[in-house]
Amino acid sequence: MREAYRASIVHCLSDPGEGADPSAVEYFDDGLLLVEDGRIVELGDAKTLLSQCGDVALTEYPEKIIVPGFIDCHVHFPQLDIIASYGEKLLDWLDRYAFPAEQRFADRAYAEEVAGVFLDELLGNGTTTALVFGTVHAHSADLIFEAARIRGMRLIAGKVLMDRNCPQDLRDDPESAYTESRALIERWHGQDRLGYAITPRFAVTSSDEQLAAAGRLATECPDVWVHTHLAENNTEVDIVHKRFPTHRSYLDVYDQVGLLRERSVFAHCLHLDDTDRDCMANKGGAAAFCPTSNLFLGSGLFDLRSMREAGVRCGLGTDVGGGTSLNLLRTASEAYKVLHLQDQSLPATRSLFLTTLGAAEALYLNDKVGNFESGKEADFVVLDPAGSSLSARRTRVASSFDEKLFAITMLADDRHIAATYVAGKLHAIK
Ligand code: GUN
Ligand code: ZN
Repeated sequence: MREAYRASIVHCLSDPGEGADPSAVEYFDDGLLLVEDGRIVELGDAKTLLSQCGDVALTEYPEKIIVPGFIDCHVHFPQLDIIASYGEKLLDWLDRYAFPAEQRFADRAYAEEVAGVFLDELLGNGTTTALVFGTVHAHSADLIFEAARIRGMRLIAGKVLMDRNCPQDLRDDPESAYTESRALIERWHGQDRLGYAITPRFAVTSSDEQLAAAGRLATECPDVWVHTHLAENNTEVDIVHKRFPTHRSYLDVYDQVGLLRERSVFAHCLHLDDTDRDCMANKGGAAAFCPTSNLFLGSGLFDLRSMREAGVRCGLGTDVGGGTSLNLLRTASEAYKVLHLQDQSLPATRSLFLTTLGAAEALYLNDKVGNFESGKEADFVVLDPAGSSLSARRTRVASSFDEKLFAITMLADDRHIAATYVAGKLHAIK
């Protein structure tokens, strides 16, 4: 039998932009989402649809809001246990916190435990799809894929490639990076809802030979993703410019080896110029905007307006453990502040876009997830405006739906996620 979910329902049809274009959004004050076999059948007004759709198993969520499942465009599962570590900027933070955390992943049992906890945290925060860094250990990718498969999640992940400027026991080499990644692609890519990402950490930690090997694999396997960091921190950018003096830019280092193409996702992208943005847009690459991480590590401010005007695909990333929350609404509230500082606007519906359909476009998954078009996979979240007593008070006096959604976005945490559905199945309810 079909399942039907009744609540206020909102989703994006396109990017509402800084002007919050209402035609980019579909909203039903009393909506009904019809689901069958894990897919969306139809979205519409509840009274109208209920009178037409015959027998359904009806679940009602009065006073709640249903939105598409959130999509995290950049996060590191092995860094879960070092979230909120004090005092450093990127390169020292890697040495002091991230690399030691990733060394612990040599222990398979520990890695397995973290993988499960991490995905349950994602789901508890309403995130149903993510693009995830592992560690250099191939088993880190096996374990996160296995945990995602058990939970029915759509997940893209990969083992990290790095062979320089990091601890010895976290190094692979160009040959093993290639062969292990290839074996993981064969094992996991396209299985259930899983996809593989070739994951060179960043130019700083890969030799020329390893970057070339990653690029070769990316060219041989055009339907797998590429996932790396780009132009996050000034010192990092200086190191890359000194090492590659004849390349036009940091992005050009990736481009020249074949790592910039459709399905390439670059975390951060803080220090780019217009040529980089045009190049990224033209070649189909995407940017993950990671505001909590960029603020926490003192890295800089993402220029969303310039990226979108150039036509770059953009989604939000939590970037835990550099980021300070796995909650994409909270991440959007920091994005609002980062953009406000640059005299840019981020209306609530555009936050919704960046965490759902925009993120799906960035990951080339918008034929599968991101909104409630008929036939897409039924990943959705039930938001509770009264998740905290303060947001209950604030949303009660909101005079429009936009005002209510904005207040929830600014005030939300995991208490505001009443339920998360993955391919039509309830995962977490509180
Ligand atoms: N650049 C290279 N590695 C990392 C990482 O683990 N986190 C962040 N934020 N930036 C990086
Ligand atoms: Zn990162």
